Amino acid sequence: MPAYGIVGAQWGDEGKGKVVDFLADDADIVVRYSGGSNAGHTVINEKGEFALHLVPSGIFRPHVDAVIGPGVVVEPEALLDELSDLQEKGVDTSRLFVSDHAHVVMPYHVTLDRLEEEARGSKAIGTTGRGIGPAYVDKVARVGIRFGDLLDEAYLASRLEGVVAQKSRILTKAFDAPPVDFDDLYERALRWGEALRPHIASVEQRILDALARGARVVLEGAQGAMLDLDHGTYPYVTSSSVSIGGACTVLGVPPREIVGIIGVFKAYSTRVGAGPMPTELDDAVGRDIRERAWEYGTTTGRPRRVGWFDGLAARYSATINGFTSAVLTRLDVLDGIDPVKICTAYDADGERTHRFPSSPGQLERATPVWEEMPGWSAPTAGITNVKQLPPEAAAYVRRIEEIIGCPIDLISTGPRRAESIVVRPIILR
Ligand code: IMP
Repeated sequence: MPAYGIVGAQWGDEGKGKVVDFLADDADIVVRYSGGSNAGHTVINEKGEFALHLVPSGIFRPHVDAVIGPGVVVEPEALLDELSDLQEKGVDTSRLFVSDHAHVVMPYHVTLDRLEEEARGSKAIGTTGRGIGPAYVDKVARVGIRFGDLLDEAYLASRLEGVVAQKSRILTKAFDAPPVDFDDLYERALRWGEALRPHIASVEQRILDALARGARVVLEGAQGAMLDLDHGTYPYVTSSSVSIGGACTVLGVPPREIVGIIGVFKAYSTRVGAGPMPTELDDAVGRDIRERAWEYGTTTGRPRRVGWFDGLAARYSATINGFTSAVLTRLDVLDGIDPVKICTAYDADGERTHRFPSSPGQLERATPVWEEMPGWSAPTAGITNVKQLPPEAAAYVRRIEEIIGCPIDLISTGPRRAESIVVRPIILR
C-alpha cells in the first residue's frame, strides 16, 4: 500500500505528464497502465527536451522504477527510439521495465490502422495512426504477440506463422495491399526481443510485492476518460480502458489498494480527432486559445479542437472514476479572456439535461447551455500561492470544483514544475 491513480479526465492532453512528474518524487514505481504510442507529452528538464510516448515520466527520477504495464500496446521501434534518445541525453534507462505480457504493435497493425481509417471515409475516427486499435483487436481475438514471446524463438515462430497468414489474407483480399513478409518480420521481431531483453520482465508480481512492502506506486493513465472504450464517446474513442478500473484489470492490482484517484482536468476542453464535442469553439476565442496554449498534438502535430469547459462530461468522468482529488491545468491560458463560460446543461431533442447523455445521437444533437463568469485580467501565469489568484479566477476554480464534486488540490499555472499552486498536498507521504 498504497497505489495512486492519475487519470486524464477529459479527451486527453490534460497535462498528466507534468502531474506525474510532480508526484514521481515521492513514488517508488510509476507504471503506465493503458494506451500506447498514441499518447505523448513533452518533458523539459535540466537534461533537455523529451517527447515521451511510451516511457513513463518517472524515468527521470533515479530512485523510481518506470514500468510499462501489461495493458499497454508497444511499438518496439518507437520504444527503442525513445530509449536511445533518453540515453543520449544522459538519462539512466536501466530501471525501465516492460511487462512480458504487454502486446507488441506490429507493422501490420500500423498498416491496418491506416487502411481501416481510409475505408471509413467521412466516418473516420481520426486515429493517431499508431496501430493502437488493430493491436487491441488482436489482443482480444487472442492472436496478439506479447513481449515475452519475443524472447522465445520457437514459440514466436509458431505464434507468428498463423497470425501472418491471417493478416496477409486480410491485407491482400480486403484491401488489395501487399502481404506480410514472414521471414523479414520474424527476424525483426527477434532483434527487438534481443534489444529489449534487459527491460522485459514479469512486472505484475513486482508491483504487488512492492505494494505489500508499503512502496508507493503511481498508476499513470494515458488519454482521457472520455476516450475510454466503454465509457467514452463511442465509437469515437481509443481502444483501451482509460479509466481507473482499467488499471485494476490489466495490472491485477486489487481496487482496495488504490487509495487516491487523481483526475487531471484542463481549465477548458480540447479534443483531437473526430467525434462529438458540444462545447467546441469554432470562433476567434477558440483559435486564440489554440494558439496561446499551442494546442497541437504531441504525437501527430494535428491542431486540437478547443472548447469551453464541459461540466457534464467533467462530472460524468469524476463519477465513473471516483476521483478523490483533482488537478486543474492550464488555468493561465484563460488569462485576459472575458467572459469565461462553463457548460452546465445540454439542450437536445426538446429537453434540457444536466447529465452526460448515454445516447451518441443525443450527444451529437446537443447544444450547450452556458454559465457565464467574469474573466480576469491580472495574470495567473506562474502563480504559486492560491491567495494570489485573482478573485474571478478563484471563483472559476471553485465553480469547477462544485461541478466535479471533488477538491482541486493542485492548480497548474505554467509548463514548468515550479509553476504550480499546491492547494493541499495530494499524497504519497
Ligand atoms: P487511436 O488511439 O490512435 O486509435 O485514436 C482514437 C482516438 O483517440 C482519436 O480521436 C485520437 O485522436 C484520440 N487519441 C488517442 N490518443 C490520444 C492522446 O494521447 N491525446 C488525445 N487524443 C488521443
